[in-house]
Amino acid sequence: MQTEQQDFWPAEEDTHRQQRKPHRWRALLIPCLLTLGCSAVQAQSVQVLHWWKSLSEQQAVNLLTTKLAQDNLQWRDGLVPSGSGVGASIVLKSRILAGNAPEAAQLNGVLVSEWAELGLLLDIDNVAQTGKWEKSLFPKVWNLIQVKNHVVAAPLGIHRINTLFYNKKIFSKLDLKPPASWEEFDQVVRKLQQAGITPLAQSSEVWQVATLFETVLLSVSSPGFYHDVFVRKQPSAMMDARFAQALKRLRILKKAMPNPVADKLWMDLSRQLAEGQAAMLIMGDWAKGELNALGLPTDTGFSCVAVPGTAAYHIYDVDTLVMLARDGSKRSAQEKLAQWVVSPALQQEYNQVKGSIPVLKNPDLTKMDSCARNAWKVFSGDAAAQVPSFAHRMATDEISRDAMMNEIHRFFMDDQMSVEEAQKRMATMVRALPKNKAGNDAQDINR
Ligand code: GAL
Repeated sequence: MQTEQQDFWPAEEDTHRQQRKPHRWRALLIPCLLTLGCSAVQAQSVQVLHWWKSLSEQQAVNLLTTKLAQDNLQWRDGLVPSGSGVGASIVLKSRILAGNAPEAAQLNGVLVSEWAELGLLLDIDNVAQTGKWEKSLFPKVWNLIQVKNHVVAAPLGIHRINTLFYNKKIFSKLDLKPPASWEEFDQVVRKLQQAGITPLAQSSEVWQVATLFETVLLSVSSPGFYHDVFVRKQPSAMMDARFAQALKRLRILKKAMPNPVADKLWMDLSRQLAEGQAAMLIMGDWAKGELNALGLPTDTGFSCVAVPGTAAYHIYDVDTLVMLARDGSKRSAQEKLAQWVVSPALQQEYNQVKGSIPVLKNPDLTKMDSCARNAWKVFSGDAAAQVPSFAHRMATDEISRDAMMNEIHRFFMDDQMSVEEAQKRMATMVRALPKNKAGNDAQDINR
């Protein structure tokens, strides 16, 4: 595994860090003493633990920081770089156990309800009521942030997982059309290989393999079957022919990837696509934010379509911030943060940078690029089109997610393992897993 750089410091070390940089304080103090009566020093602050490390993610964080600072709220950065938040969850857990919880944290999906039920999260009911969130948010998002009738998370944006990015220069040079079916995809792959170009960028990182697999499974089945596998975790679904088909498709896709598939960060894959080292990438649309940040405007350097067979669906991954319940002394700063992230002005700018779509039902569509408009169209249509991302914690509890992801990964890495063996392993394993509890998002979509 590639080790990710740790750039995180616990709350008490903030002071040391600032002491090591006295010029920062001078910069704040001098103008404040001369003009403002020290309002800058009195600014409220919130430490936010998150995992956003890539170029576009950092741009999104900078945007949040700047906007909040204009409202006299200081964002103290608690970055734990880790794709899809693997390391961030661990750090958050250990900080809570050590009695040193940050004031806010990026926490997504089912984890929100797991933590709320332990009494670790502050409710932000007042903010939601004042901001009329129930009316303005997508119902799916509104359900996701409530636990036992309390609002416990502030939603930032909605990512679409089933997105296929392609390098426009390569496609137009070889006169290729973005594939709408797996047959077309295979033809495109053959032509790219004949031209000596790697067709599909991919990493062997566990969550990235799972991100690809959930899309593939949906593409060869239906939202109902996807639920049987990832939400209901039915052993019989793992033995189903559609599950076998998804595994076989994963193997076929592997032939379109670099050999061997290396353990790469997702932002490195985005760069490979941008630089033409690979022609396609299947990834959540945070990769769009990254490609834009790398200087490629949407529909010029690259474009995106739904992964073959999934155009009618939106596999969603909603980013949310939770406020950690401490002694209550930070409540007003925490509420201010929650209020800000859902404000229409911030929603539009933030999601543009991040690659996602706003959590609000009525965003300004003219400000969206073609990828975002498509994602918005599908997500805001029929609720049956909204499919919870398994890899990004929208479908099942953390233990089941990790266990199932590892099995998928094992199959992906070991070309000797037969499809039947992988199916049997999955079926046996899910029998031992906990069932999803009632009341969380994973249940409300049981059909
Ligand atoms: C997802 C998260 C995105 C993005 C991605 C890559 O789980 O929702 O915002 O950060 O991981 O790390």
